[in-house]
Amino acid sequence: MSHLDARLRWIAERVTRGPVADIGTDHGLLAADLALRGWRVVATDKSTAALASARATVAAMGPALPIELRQGDGFDVIDRGEVTTVVVAGMGGRRIAGILDRAHLDGVERLLLQPNRGVVDLRRWLVEGGWEIDDEAIQRAGGWHFMMSAVPSPRVRALQDEDLVLGPVLRQRRCASWLEWVASEHARYQVLVRQAPRDSRREELQRLLELMQRVLSEPLAAPSETGRSVNREQNSPRTNRKT
Ligand SMILES: C[S@@+](CC[C@H](N)C(=O)[O-])C[C@H]1O[C@@H](n2cnc3c(N)ncnc32)[C@H](O)[C@@H]1O
Repeated sequence: MSHLDARLRWIAERVTRGPVADIGTDHGLLAADLALRGWRVVATDKSTAALASARATVAAMGPALPIELRQGDGFDVIDRGEVTTVVVAGMGGRRIAGILDRAHLDGVERLLLQPNRGVVDLRRWLVEGGWEIDDEAIQRAGGWHFMMSAVPSPRVRALQDEDLVLGPVLRQRRCASWLEWVASEHARYQVLVRQAPRDSRREELQRLLELMQRVLSEPLAAPSETGRSVNREQNSPRTNRKT
C-alpha cells in the first residue's frame, strides 16, 4: 500500500529514469516509495530534524533500500552528474526556483516539482532556463497544490502570460480542479482589478480577468484529470537502476 498522498504519488509515477534526487525530503516518504519502486535515491534536507525523520521512515520501510540520506542545502550535497531526475516538492515556487538556480543540472533529464504557491515564478524560471513543461496537474488539499514535470529543451518556446498564469498543460487539459481554481482566481482578480491604479498593470490584470472569464464560459472538455504527456520507458525501473 502506498504511503503517499496524491501529489507525491503523481510525482512518483512520473519517474522514468534514475538515480533520483529528492531535495527537501523531510519525512522521506517519497524517497522510500521511489526506492521500493526500484530507483536509487539521494534524499537530502537542510534540516537536522527533517533528516532524522527521513532516517526513521527508511528504517521502518526497509533499511536495505537504495537510499542515501544527506544533510545540506539544495544541490550542495549532490555531485555533478550524479542524478538524472530531480524532485523538489512541498515548497513555494520561488524557493524551488532558487534551489534550481544554484544547482548544477548537467545530466538531469527531468524535473518533478510541486510548488504550493509562486507557481508563475517557477514556470518563468523553467522556460527562461531552457526547460519545457511537459506535464502538469493541480489538486485541492487544504490549499492548492500544483505538480509539474519539465524536460530540457533547446527549443523551448516562451510562454504567453496566459500560459504562465494558467499553466500551459493545464490550459489544454481543462480538468475539473483546474476550472475550480480558475474560478477562485477569477474572484481574486476581480478584487485586484478594482484596487489597481489605472495604469498598464491594471490593463494587464483586466486582460487576465477577461481570459479567465472566457475559460469559465467555455464548455467542459473531456480529458481526464490524470491524463499525461510523459512518455514512459518500456523497461521497468528495476531494470534501469543505475548504481
Ligand atoms: C514542507 S517540507 C516538504 C517535504 C516533502 N518534500 C513533501 O513534499 O512532502 C519542505 C522541506 O524542505 C526542506 N528545505 C527547504 N529548503 C531547502 C533547501 N534549500 N535545501 C534542502 N532542503 C530544504 C525543509 O527543511 C523541509 O524539510
